[in-house]
Amino acid sequence: MASPLPRIDPEACIGCGACARLCPSGTIVFEGQRAAVRGTGCIGCGHCRAVCPAEAVAMADGENYADGFVTFTPAGKVVAPGEFSPELLVDLLRSRRSCRAFTEKAVPAPMLEDLVRAAVTAPSGTNSQAWTFTVLTSRAAVAGFGEAVAGFFRRLNRIAANGLARKVYALIGRPELENYYREYYASVADALAAWDRDRTDRLFHDASAAVIIGSRPGASCPAEDALLAAQNMLLTAHAMGLGTCLIGYAVEAIRHDKRVKAAAGLPPEEAAHAVVALGWPDATFLRQTARRRPVVRYKTA
Ligand SMILES: Cc1cc2nc3c(=O)[nH]c(=O)nc-3n(C[C@H](O)[C@H](O)[C@H](O)COP(=O)(O)O)c2cc1C
Repeated sequence: MASPLPRIDPEACIGCGACARLCPSGTIVFEGQRAAVRGTGCIGCGHCRAVCPAEAVAMADGENYADGFVTFTPAGKVVAPGEFSPELLVDLLRSRRSCRAFTEKAVPAPMLEDLVRAAVTAPSGTNSQAWTFTVLTSRAAVAGFGEAVAGFFRRLNRIAANGLARKVYALIGRPELENYYREYYASVADALAAWDRDRTDRLFHDASAAVIIGSRPGASCPAEDALLAAQNMLLTAHAMGLGTCLIGYAVEAIRHDKRVKAAAGLPPEEAAHAVVALGWPDATFLRQTARRRPVVRYKTA
């Protein structure tokens, strides 16, 4: 979807050409020693305004959602490449851990709002920003959604326990049920039994809040956008003193079961890509993440 076109003040333009050079959609061109708006496919990225030394570029005025943090006050300064401490950044990256023990304390609503603000500073394909955030703000809301997810896995486990069903699925080229049975059936059955016994929450780990990150139809890269937003949220939450854990089981349940999607509060046309459990951590990590060596290839020519 094209965005409203930027406007260039020809009197203020100093003819440096920076906006035209960086415009990803060819909306701004450099002609006659001045920048001019010629294309119509603006994606609204705002690079033209951000790079203009003469403040000659204006964008269609609208709310800047990324400006409104309420629980802390960013300086609003552009951190130039090389200006931020990589030591500090990598310590932050390596200190975020998946939290599976939360206290009962609620996460205040303004903190949840700020986490969404931090999330949407992520890049998105063609700047579509078509992500959606469904925020479960209380333990009761998380547990209610957890019930719906548990319902899905109860049904799935009933089917997966049936050896004939697994064979039939495999015969028609759908080995997923057999794979699920081998990999997850037993631990899911254990988790369901623990929930039924005394409400031990192996799904959301007693989190007092959760955020479902989804997408509206029409985004070019909906899953990538949502996952980048999720990583922003995880890191910002850590900086704010909160613990987080991605809950893939909940994403699978929303994807496969309309009832779970409805229980999560997502309209049918939206897709879910990440579910983040959130809360005040009830565990202290004393060591940073370790990682296996990945496959890395360098091609020099
Ligand atoms: C896509 C995705 C889905 C995940 N789903 C779950 C989940 O359902 N439950 C859970 O406890 N952890 C889940 N995790 C957390 C991983 O187990 C965790 O990231 C991994 O063990 C590494 O630990 P760390 O996050 O502390 O570095 C998920 C992580 C990712 C990236």
